[in-house]
Amino acid sequence: MCIIKTIKEVRKEIRKADDGKEISIGFVPTMGYLHEGHLSLIKRARKENDLVVVSVFVNPTQFAPHEDFDSYPRDVERDYNLAIESGADIVFAPEKDEIYEKNSLTFVNIEGEITKKLCGKSRPTFFKGVTTVVAKLFNIIQPTNAYFGQKDAQQVAIIKKMVKELNYDINIIPCSLVREHDGLALSSRNVYLNNEERKQALILSKSLFTAKEMFLNGEKNVQKLKQFIINNIKTQNLADIDYVEIVDAKNLEDIETIDRTALVALAVKIGKTRLIDNIYLEVE
Ligand code: PAJ
Repeated sequence: MCIIKTIKEVRKEIRKADDGKEISIGFVPTMGYLHEGHLSLIKRARKENDLVVVSVFVNPTQFAPHEDFDSYPRDVERDYNLAIESGADIVFAPEKDEIYEKNSLTFVNIEGEITKKLCGKSRPTFFKGVTTVVAKLFNIIQPTNAYFGQKDAQQVAIIKKMVKELNYDINIIPCSLVREHDGLALSSRNVYLNNEERKQALILSKSLFTAKEMFLNGEKNVQKLKQFIINNIKTQNLADIDYVEIVDAKNLEDIETIDRTALVALAVKIGKTRLIDNIYLEVE
């Protein structure tokens, strides 16, 4: 097997593996430059499915013109080897023109607050690009189970909503966030960080971990926890906060008190690199 670049070919390979046996297909969509976070999704898919398909596609429609589409790190050969080693059967890495018709007019867009808050505020076209490409990939691969990381908690909530409302017969499986040993959330964008930025980036996970401790010690006030995180991050001179929010973990709605499981999510620019991180505060 080698890297598959066309829709026709990937469909043929899946059909060949299926051969009327109704096998389970696990799907892991990625933008490549794979790290242990991505690989944890592939390994889980391997355990739970007969066939594992990984896509590697830097999706142009989820980047705004001023964002890092051109400079986004890419290394498809390396991704292919890592994906196969982690249990993938098929690596689908199409070119842009294979996925999008020139001047295409069809998009999948989820309306409402869920796509407008948190990352949707500073990246207003981002989730439209994500839901459009994920819907297309779902139509191409037709998986039984699709694996998404909680690193992108808002993305998981939005994909779940899309699957429900568009009647996709696909199980969305959320997977735990994977971190470096010192706490930094793994991200393909971490390669942009220089030494000083890498050091200062640790404030994100540290603030989240301390906020969780405060919560476990009885602090339930959203405003207080939020303010603590903001003040903490501001101690780092290279950090520029996009947002720090604490919301209902299920529907991402605003809350004032943590009386149900909450998601603490943040996006912060460290130098020029925008990083996201989050943590759950669980209520039984
Ligand atoms: P990408 O950022 O490459 O991430 C692919 C998948 O890996 C996503 O589900 C993401 O949440 C997960 N992931 C990334 N870092 C992780 C970490 N540290 N721990 C656990 N999981 C992690 O998310 C996208 O690509 C795109 O938006 C995509 C869904 C592929 C659509 O283009």
